[in-house]
Amino acid sequence: MVHADASNFAHGVTKDDAYEQVLMQAEGLFIDQRNWLCVDVQISDLGSNLANAASLLWHAYRSLPSPSKEVNWAGFYVLDPSSTKPQLILGPFQGKVACQTIEFGRGVCGAAAATQKTQLVADVDKFPGHIACDGDSKSEIVVPILASAGGSGVKKVVAIIDVDCTIENGFDDLDRKYLEDLADLLGRSCDW
Ligand code: SME
Repeated sequence: MVHADASNFAHGVTKDDAYEQVLMQAEGLFIDQRNWLCVDVQISDLGSNLANAASLLWHAYRSLPSPSKEVNWAGFYVLDPSSTKPQLILGPFQGKVACQTIEFGRGVCGAAAATQKTQLVADVDKFPGHIACDGDSKSEIVVPILASAGGSGVKKVVAIIDVDCTIENGFDDLDRKYLEDLADLLGRSCDW
């Protein structure tokens, strides 16, 4: 059963512990729930795996010491089904309002989508084409989510995880490892 307590992270936990809890809670929440977003208001228990994942991440970062607790945006962009060119559209997130569409290849999110590779950016001002949705963001990590959409068997980028931090060097290889694990889980756990 979905419960707000899933977002409670003990203060003083390590980054490993916090991410392990994110993954464990996410796995539990995704059981019997393959929708990445509520698409049918008639079915009240259709939740949103991405919305719950954004909440888990947000509260996990809040429980950690700096730099993690300086995270100011955590969420998702998904493949824009209404666009003829490869483009992302804003998905569920926690933080301030953000730009709504990002073409593949543009900014950090677009680079992750185009290359299918995680982008760990220590200083966004040094990243060519960085899209400054919020001038407070100084570092960023973006992880692509791959899945075989429509049962084709061929994996492609269906969404990206984007996390921003208000200080430089906000993320390291531990963030990369666990966010890639979360991307893998989401790729497998949702019908894209
Ligand atoms: N900074 C991102 C755009 C998305 S926002 O940070 C939420 C980028 O350059 O891709």
